[in-house]
Order: sequence, then structure tokens, then C-alpha cells
Amino acid sequence: MRVATAVRPAPHEPVMAERVVALLAVAGRRPGLLVDATVGAGGHALALLAASSADTRLVAFDRDADALDLARTRLSAHADRVTFVHAGHDRLTEYVAPVVAREGPVLGVLYDLGASSMQLDRPERGFSFRATAPLDMRMDADAALTAAEVVNGRSVEELTRIIRWYGEERFARRIAQAVVAARPLRTTTELAGVVERAVPAATRRPGLHPATRTFQALRIEVNGELERLRSSLPQALGLVAPPGAEGRGGRVAVLSYHSLEDRIVKRSFAEATTGCVCPPDLPVCACGRSPLATALTRGAERPGAAEVAGNPRARAARLRAVERTAAAPHRGRG
Ligand SMILES: C[S@@+](CC[C@H](N)C(=O)[O-])C[C@H]1O[C@@H](n2cnc3c(N)ncnc32)[C@H](O)[C@@H]1O
Repeated sequence: MRVATAVRPAPHEPVMAERVVALLAVAGRRPGLLVDATVGAGGHALALLAASSADTRLVAFDRDADALDLARTRLSAHADRVTFVHAGHDRLTEYVAPVVAREGPVLGVLYDLGASSMQLDRPERGFSFRATAPLDMRMDADAALTAAEVVNGRSVEELTRIIRWYGEERFARRIAQAVVAARPLRTTTELAGVVERAVPAATRRPGLHPATRTFQALRIEVNGELERLRSSLPQALGLVAPPGAEGRGGRVAVLSYHSLEDRIVKRSFAEATTGCVCPPDLPVCACGRSPLATALTRGAERPGAAEVAGNPRARAARLRAVERTAAAPHRGRG
């Protein structure tokens, strides 16, 4: 069934949507479940539902209640096929396993990581330095930790680590020292000003605000994005179904936008696609381990130049995907 996407322009353009649909849509296969671990504005979810058979159901997660409201509206034509979950995808098994018992096997899981355009574009959420707003940056408004607490409560060392690692910012220490000296900081624009003054003018890149990397780093810290991903991927790999009569196993696909995210995905998939882990000097395999999954992408796939030109958010995207084999889940190694 094809459904018109939207009369108005989509608020968030789904990245590499055609490729995601080719990897995950369930058409002419056994009925089952798809999981969108990060439904956002529902762009990928809508494309997947439209391209999948009518008996395919979708479980849609988001930590952001506003995103879920928007997704509910955009997916209203498929309302009877979708279960919305207001929770982090680190709770995948808890929410999806009971649905599997009722609705059938998980045939695909999608992650489209990071923040959505709506979050970045709504000044009151505090993700952007382009408008004055409280330092918030929580994806889940019920979560305890805000950017204000990180900025005003952490030591120079902790801030340096966050800004260097999550922001990949070479002036992390200078920025952290400037932030601590200027505390308390209450708004996005106050923080952006402090960062801007801490970064040497000669090193600025045209088109990139000097506070971009620091804001990204704080967002990752506030939302525990990397820890949640690390905890979620093994759950997804354990939940997707082994091949059925039609011969295709359940699939997991991840779109990431940050090198640390991509590294976590790469490691998790490498672990799943590895068979025997016996020491090389052992003459015969003693572990009996077979790969839990096979790779569907060679390395990370990138969007084409035309997509990047039309959707700047796609620029950093990397897509990796694997398919579950018939092997039993590995014990103790994820
Ligand atoms: C890039 S957007 C997804 C856009 C979506 N694919 C679309 O086509 O509209 C990422 C979404 O993931 C959500 N998110 C981020 N981390 C999450 C997590 N750990 N669990 C659930 N949702 C998360 C964000 O709130 C945001 O709405």
C-alpha cells in the first residue's frame, strides 16, 4: 500500500531512506514486526510501513514525547499497525519481547541516531546556540540531568573530557576553563559566547560556529547517547528473528552521524559477525561459536552527493546493517 507522505514539506527529511527501505521493508515475507528505535518525525517509519505488507506492525520508540506526538500524527493512516513507546531504546527487550509474543517475530530494527531537526530547530529545547534559551538539551523532558547542570556542576577535567571526546574539539581544555571561569551560565547564547571567545579566531572554520562541537558534546553527555546505544545494540541483535521459511533473517540497520557512535556500531556488528573466538594456536575449535549475523553493508555506506546537497543533515551519515543467522545467540559476549 502506498501512502502520500505529506502535503506540507516533511519537518525532518529522512536520511538514505531508499536504502533503509531496501534493507528493512517487509513485503511478501512472513508477517512480523519492525522496530523504529528512534522514530523522530516518523519519516523512515512512514516509508517502511508504506513499503511493507499490511500485516507488518511497527513498534516506534522515542525518548522525546513531542517527537512521538508528531510521529503519531504523521503515521495516523497506519495507526492500527503502530505501537508507540515513550522510552529509550536501551529498554528495547523490555518493550518489544511482549509484542513479539502477540504479533510475531522481529524482522527489522532501525536506529537513526542523534537529534532531529525539530529538536535543533525549537529554541526552547536549548539544543541550539542560535536563540537564547535555558541550557536544557534533554531529549526526554522527564530526565533529571540538564545541560545547565553539566555546564555549571562539572570540574574543568570532566568538561574537558566531555568536550574533547564527544565534541572532537581540539580546544576542549581552553573552553572548559573559560566555562568554569564564567559560571554560572544560564542560557545557550551565554555559553556560545564564552566558547566563541575561548576558541582562537585564526582557527575558525567558515560556516562552522565555534560552539557547534561543544553543544554537540553536551547533548551527547546530557542524554547518555553512547551508553544507551552500547546497551541497546546487543538487545536488537538478540531480538531479531533467525531466518524463516523464506530464508531471510531479521535485520538491524543503524544510521550514525558521529565517529564515536559509528565505532560502537562497528564493534557491536563485528562481534556479532564473528564466529570462532578460540585462540589461534588451538588445533580445533573448542568454543563452537557461529556468527550470529552476517554483514549487509561493506564497511559503512554513505549518502550520495545529490542527497547531501539537498539535505545537509545527511553529510555525516554512515549506514551499517547486518542480518541474523540461524545461530543461537552468543552467551556472555553479546
Ligand atoms: C534523527 S531523529 C530520527 C528521525 C526519523 N528517523 C525520521 O525519519 O523522522 C532521532 C530521534 O531519536 C530520538 N532518540 C535519541 N536517542 C534516543 C534513545 N536512546 N532512545 C529513543 N529515542 C532516542 C530523538 O529524540 C530523535 O527524535
